[in-house]
Amino acid sequence: MKPKYYITTPLYYPSSKLHIGHAYTTVAVDTMARYKKQRGFDVKFLTGTDEHGQKLERAAQEAGTTPKAYIDEIVNGIKELWPLLDIENDIFIRTTDDYHKAAVQKIFKQLYDQGDIYKSSYEGLYCTPCETFFTELQLKEGNCPDCGRSVEKVQEESYFFKLSKYADRLIKHIEDNPKFIMPVSRRNEMLNNFLRPGLSDLAVSRTSFKWGIPVEFDPGHVIYVWIDALSNYATALGFMSDDDSNYKKYWPADVHVVGKEIIRFHTIIWPIMLMALGAPLPKQIFGHGWLLFDGGKMSKSKGNVVDPNILVNKYGSDAIRYFLMREIVFGQDGNFNNEVLVQRINSDLANDLGNLVSRTGGMIEKYFGGAIPSEQTPTEFDKSLVEMAESTCEKVENHMDKMQFNDALIEIWNLVRRSNKYADETSPWILIKDPDKKSELAAVLYNLSEVIRIVSILISPFMPRTSPAIWAQLNMNDSEILTWDKSKTFGLLPKEVTVSKGAILFPRLDIKKELAELEILGGGEPSASSEPAPKKSKQEGSPAKKEDDGIIAIEDFFKVEMKLGEVIECEHVEGSEKLLKSQIKVGGQMRQILSGIAQFYTPEEMIGKKVALVMNLKPRKMMGHLSEGMVLAAKDDNGNLSLLSVDKAVDSGAEIS
Ligand code: MSP
Repeated sequence: MKPKYYITTPLYYPSSKLHIGHAYTTVAVDTMARYKKQRGFDVKFLTGTDEHGQKLERAAQEAGTTPKAYIDEIVNGIKELWPLLDIENDIFIRTTDDYHKAAVQKIFKQLYDQGDIYKSSYEGLYCTPCETFFTELQLKEGNCPDCGRSVEKVQEESYFFKLSKYADRLIKHIEDNPKFIMPVSRRNEMLNNFLRPGLSDLAVSRTSFKWGIPVEFDPGHVIYVWIDALSNYATALGFMSDDDSNYKKYWPADVHVVGKEIIRFHTIIWPIMLMALGAPLPKQIFGHGWLLFDGGKMSKSKGNVVDPNILVNKYGSDAIRYFLMREIVFGQDGNFNNEVLVQRINSDLANDLGNLVSRTGGMIEKYFGGAIPSEQTPTEFDKSLVEMAESTCEKVENHMDKMQFNDALIEIWNLVRRSNKYADETSPWILIKDPDKKSELAAVLYNLSEVIRIVSILISPFMPRTSPAIWAQLNMNDSEILTWDKSKTFGLLPKEVTVSKGAILFPRLDIKKELAELEILGGGEPSASSEPAPKKSKQEGSPAKKEDDGIIAIEDFFKVEMKLGEVIECEHVEGSEKLLKSQIKVGGQMRQILSGIAQFYTPEEMIGKKVALVMNLKPRKMMGHLSEGMVLAAKDDNGNLSLLSVDKAVDSGAEIS
């Protein structure tokens, strides 16, 4: 029987569009799940959405709709995003699912019946965005210590959970199980900052709002969102339901992967809930760091969201997955930056891996008409290459078993680079000139193909699209030799390797051009030539909230000066596939404006068009050309773009209002 492996992401709040920081957790978990599957485990990978709480109730109210309708739309977007990143979760749980709600009510009732939950009244401070209670002492400068936003005074009747009763048992468990909280720094933080100073009992119900799971025996109360959300890891397997066969099979979780700011809930509240319920504790909670953007946590509230949809559409999911797993040490914070992304794609994917595959295939094609002859004579350079190739898998496994994704990739890339060096050392382009060296040349190309096979297996949990693309190009059709364990043995490919021409795996990118395009797409950090993204003031629950949700006052609208212009001249911008440069007449003046519309309009089509313009945008340079305004266009979800114009004869220079 296969050993089981149960791994989870946190449940995402459907309160905002998911950004590349959320994708980071999910890609890491997907990579781990794929790796374990390949190593023969019976894997369950859970993700989902955390859909209750005051924050969502308020957001729905402000949107003029019901919480469920508000959330459904966002959850659909989340469900569409994951396949785009090739996330293959086995379970998607929504905390609004009926089976989950029923199980949470049973959990609450059991804890109440056995005396671990009791009724009292609560007076304290609550951070609604974080859905967390704090004491005065825990606040930082009077604000939430986690997100920095203001807290609200709350006074209401509440049920309390006796965390304190279980604190000593939990401390002992953490001390006896050094891998329970990883990395070690987070373990020490939980012990020293939270557990050893002593735990207070936790308020676990609310009466001031309705959007939650009602306490079955006291329906004026809804269950605290963290009790509701944390339970998902077990309820998703059927815990507290009529059919708990999956719970019996897969629980306890092998690892809950969570961001560092929510490790406290997962290593204190959740284990104590399980202890109180008499259920086994998860084997590990791994707290990873944050993807930082300009040194701050990436979040919508800071106005610096990076949209994974844009990045995946532009570079493909494998490049984004590779970047996230390679660039940041799992457990530490790391900076997200478009330039680093594009450079990494160029150096590691286009130059190292892409080049190895394309030069090997190209040489087999050129020197042997697409098929390596079976007569092969080893060269003096083979031994060290073969040794390295056969030992890489074990090193990768050691790193993967500790969730050190970046180290695993570094090992694989050492082999890729060593293989490119082997190609240089053996110099097939010189061997081909000597007819007596034909069998050596055949051996060199065979060895390169064999390393590519090994690499293609090792990268497959990280880059699930690239491996099959490589197999297609080198006609590696025998799935028997493409399993994980077969990456430990060199020489399994049949000697007569044949090739089929395929597309370049990772085309080299022009960094300047990419950065300019990313800026236009709004997919990343603004360059020095443009305005920084406006920083939004985010005080959830305060009067500033309206602006935060994208509503602006009429005075703000009037700040935008819009006019009708007539395109007099238009041409492509050299080095850009997207940009057109237009000279536009606006009344008595001329403006030069660059627009990312070259895929939709030819320069000839543009000439003579009347277009809607934003006149008072700060001028900025794009690809070395000054742009003094913006041409307005409508773009739909299918990528169709159409310029905005007028439907009656109006002179250029006319005001648009
Ligand atoms: N709903 C809770 C989790 C409940 S689990 C029972 C929650 N949701 S969240 O949507 O705010 O965050 C989900 C995960 O995304 C968290 O692990 C969080 O750390 C992670 N990230 C959000 N922004 C991130 C970055 N900028 N970088 C890395 N991870 C980030 O918390």
